[in-house]
Amino acid sequence: MRKPQSLRKQLLLRLTLPLTLVVVLDTAVSYFVALHYTNQAYDRWLLDSARSLAQEVKTYKNKVTFELPPIAVEVFRWDDTDKTYFKVESEATGFMAGDRELPGPKPAALDKAQPSFSDGEFQGRPVRVVSVVTEPTETSGEVWVSVAETLRKRQSMMEEILLAVVLPQVLLVLVTGLHFWTGINRGLKPLRDLAGMIARRSPKELSPIPDSGVPLEVRSLTRTINELLRQLAEAMGAQRRFIENAAHQLRTPLAGLKVQAERALRADDLEDMRPALGRIKNAADRASHLTTQLLVLARSEPGMDATHPFVPVDLCQLARETCMDWVPKVLDRGMDLGFEPPDAPPPVVRGDPTLLRELLNNLIDNAVCYGPERGQIVVSVGNGPSPSLAVEDGGTGIPDMERERVFERFYRIPGSPGEGCGLGLAIVREIAELHAARIGIGTGPGQRGTRFEVVFDREAGG
Ligand SMILES: Nc1ncnc2c1ncn2[C@@H]1O[C@H](COP(=O)(O)OP(=O)(O)OP(=O)(O)O)[C@@H](O)[C@H]1O
Ligand SMILES: [Mg+2]
Repeated sequence: MRKPQSLRKQLLLRLTLPLTLVVVLDTAVSYFVALHYTNQAYDRWLLDSARSLAQEVKTYKNKVTFELPPIAVEVFRWDDTDKTYFKVESEATGFMAGDRELPGPKPAALDKAQPSFSDGEFQGRPVRVVSVVTEPTETSGEVWVSVAETLRKRQSMMEEILLAVVLPQVLLVLVTGLHFWTGINRGLKPLRDLAGMIARRSPKELSPIPDSGVPLEVRSLTRTINELLRQLAEAMGAQRRFIENAAHQLRTPLAGLKVQAERALRADDLEDMRPALGRIKNAADRASHLTTQLLVLARSEPGMDATHPFVPVDLCQLARETCMDWVPKVLDRGMDLGFEPPDAPPPVVRGDPTLLRELLNNLIDNAVCYGPERGQIVVSVGNGPSPSLAVEDGGTGIPDMERERVFERFYRIPGSPGEGCGLGLAIVREIAELHAARIGIGTGPGQRGTRFEVVFDREAGG
């Protein structure tokens, strides 16, 4: 199973990560821009030094000279942080003054119009070197002046710039991150409140969650939960009514059983006992029939379908076998039971064979109970555009106004014969709905009696 992700962490990450990236990029750009200008300032200063030394290159009697008093050299070299070096070379006489080994570009590569900057190493330390070319007179030849300095000032300046640029940016990220964190926490509070409100509810409290105070984005969630609560309340109400009805219905045969048993106990001999025993049997039959019906109804509840995996069912075979089971009882009542198979091929639907058999049992049972004595019952299977099952009888029929109510649980049309408990058609409807089938009531042959037809969806065919 995937680990649940924290919304707070995700939001924080999605907000701070791009911010951090932008800040890092901005810091890098600011740092390199500042570095460029600082180096430029130091380079200019170094160039000024080289040019001021070049001013001291003179000619005397057509000979190039460079004379700087030791005190001036000392002043020139003085720097409390870095070391400064210089070298003066002439095209005519070679090395003239300064540090002979000072690195720098080859004199031939130097341009008179442009100073040349280069990086090198002198006395084991990295140095920045600038070289300029001067020509005191037209005949004196070129004189090259190089000035170099170590990089300490530049390095400490780089560190200071880095600190000045990075520190505020880090602070910015921290303050913004903190702001995001409190903002996200505040934003998620309605969700926490909602979770708390639901957690505090008792399992019986199924009233809808109030919309007030719930942000727009969370309303679709509360609406879904409310719809679920409404359905749950409805289902629980139906279940409560069903249990009350079932208990009420069971109480009658059980009370009858008790009364008759007491009466039988009071009888002196078997002959006196016989009528009470007969009534005990009837009451036991009713209780057993009611219990069977209740169990079938419970099994056909929509939530139970997982325990009954659907398989392809041949409706023709199912109807034929069910009819065979009913033959003895039908014959007992002097009735006739006919079976009409469809034209080939036999229809196959996906369904639960046990429940489909219960459906047909209840329809045939009604036809037997409410059909006329010596009447005819016809069970037919159709394979038209949609597979269907039908049961017809030539009885009194069901009036139009009762055709909806007869499917209600425990409802019986007043004055109905027999000992039924009013659950048969409720079971039929439940099973039909489970199989996505439609059920209709019509009249039997010759506009007499009743015809129940269950029509299955072709899509559901197996
Ligand atoms: N074929 C029919 N002809 C006439 N009336 C019928 C027919 N089928 C059902 N009814 C009427 O519909 C009512 C409800 O039928 P349902 O099968 O649900 O209950 P029941 O037969 O009374 O009891 P149960 O089937 O649970 O033993 C019946 O009481 C009866 O009045
Ligand atoms: Mg019935």
